[in-house]
Amino acid sequence: MRDFERESGVVRVAVIGGDGIGPEVVGAGMRVLEAATKDSSLELRFTEFPWGCQYYLEHGRMMPEDGLETLADFDAIYLGAVGWPTVPDHVSLWGLLLPIRRGFDQYVNLRPARLLRGVESPLANSGSLDVTVVRENTEGEYSDSGGRMFEGTPHEIVVQESIFTRRGVERIVRYAYEEAGRRRGSLIGATKSNGISITMPFFDEVFREIGEEYPNIEASLMHADSLAARLVLDPQSFDVVVGSNLLGDILSEVTAAVSGAIGIAPSANLNPERDYPSLFEPIHGSAPDIAGEGIANPSGAIWAGALLLDHLGYPEAGERVLNTLEETLASGVKTRDLGGSATTEEVTEDVIERLRSR
Ligand code: NAI
Ligand code: MG
Repeated sequence: MRDFERESGVVRVAVIGGDGIGPEVVGAGMRVLEAATKDSSLELRFTEFPWGCQYYLEHGRMMPEDGLETLADFDAIYLGAVGWPTVPDHVSLWGLLLPIRRGFDQYVNLRPARLLRGVESPLANSGSLDVTVVRENTEGEYSDSGGRMFEGTPHEIVVQESIFTRRGVERIVRYAYEEAGRRRGSLIGATKSNGISITMPFFDEVFREIGEEYPNIEASLMHADSLAARLVLDPQSFDVVVGSNLLGDILSEVTAAVSGAIGIAPSANLNPERDYPSLFEPIHGSAPDIAGEGIANPSGAIWAGALLLDHLGYPEAGERVLNTLEETLASGVKTRDLGGSATTEEVTEDVIERLRSR
C-alpha cells in the first residue's frame, strides 16, 4: 500500500487537462481544491502534463512512451477530458485513458449521482435521489478476446467473449459491499442471469457468497433491464448498485442522466489497494461545441476533486467541497447548461469565496 506521506501531509497530483473544455474545468477544480485545503494539514502539489490530442498531432502519440512510469510516482491523477475531432476517438481513448485504467489496475469505476440543490432532474418524481454505481472496470464484456472470420461473406462469423474471473468479480463485489457499509447499507447487484446463462449466474453466485461476510448489508440481485426501469420510476429507492463492466456502464449513464446534466457527474477510477494512483475525472467529454468560450460547467470536475480528497483520506475536505458546490448552485450561480447564466469563472469564484468564508 502506498504511503500518502500523511506525516508531511503532502499529496502529489498529476493533472492532465486534456482537450477542449478539459483544461478549463480542471483548472477550476484545482483552484477549488487549493481553497478547500488551505490552512489545513494537507498540501496538494499539482504537476500538469500537456497530454492529449494536441500532443498527438505534434508527437504522434497521446502521451510519451514512459507516460505511465511518470504517472506512477503520483498519489492521484486528475483528468479533464480527452478527445478532439481531428483525432479518431478510439485513438485518443486507447492512447491515454485505457492504458492508465488498465496499467494501474483501476478496477473500480465509482459513479456517484445525487440530485444537488439548484439542479433540476428531468424526472418529475426524482425526490432525494442519491445513488452510487460501482462498475467493474477491467474485464467482463469489454474484452478483446474473440475474432472475426469469413469477413464480408454470407457465412461471416463474429465472436467476442466475456471474461469473468473469480478474482475480478470477488474484488468488485466486495468493494461494493464495503461502499454500501459506508453509505446507507443497501446494495443491489445488477445481473442478467435469465438471458446470459453462464457468466451472470457466476456473478450472482459470487455476489451471494461475499454477502455472507456482510450480514448487516441489505443485499439483493435484480435483472438489469428492470433495474434500469426502476432507476427511472423510483430512483430514491437506491443506495449502491454494483454491476459488470457493460451493465455498470449503462446503468451509471442512467443515474447520471436522472440526476441532472452531464456537466455535473463525476467518476473515479480506483485502485483500492493503492498500489497505483487512482484517476478522478468528470464524466463528460471535451465538448468541442463550447470549448474556449468560458461557459463550461465546472461542477463535474469539482465533484471529481471531492472524490480525490475522499480517496486520499480526507473525506471531511471532500464533503466540504461538495456541500459548498451545492450551496453555489442552490444560490442560482450556475452555468447555461443548468439554466443559469454564470460563466465557468463566476461559478468557480463563488465556490472559492464560500470556502474562504466557512
Ligand atoms: P461531451 O460530453 O463532450 O459533450 C456532449 C454535450 O454536452 C455537448 O453539447 C457539450 O457541450 C455538453 N457538455 C459536456 N460537458 C459539459 C460541461 N461541463 N458544461 C456544459 N456543457 C457540457 O461528449 P461528446 O460530444 O460525445 O464527445 C466530445 C469528445 O470528448 C469526443 O472526442 C469524445 O471521445 C470525448 N470524450 C471523452 C471522455 C473522457 O475523457 N473521459 C468522455 C466522453 C467523451
Ligand atoms: Mg459511458
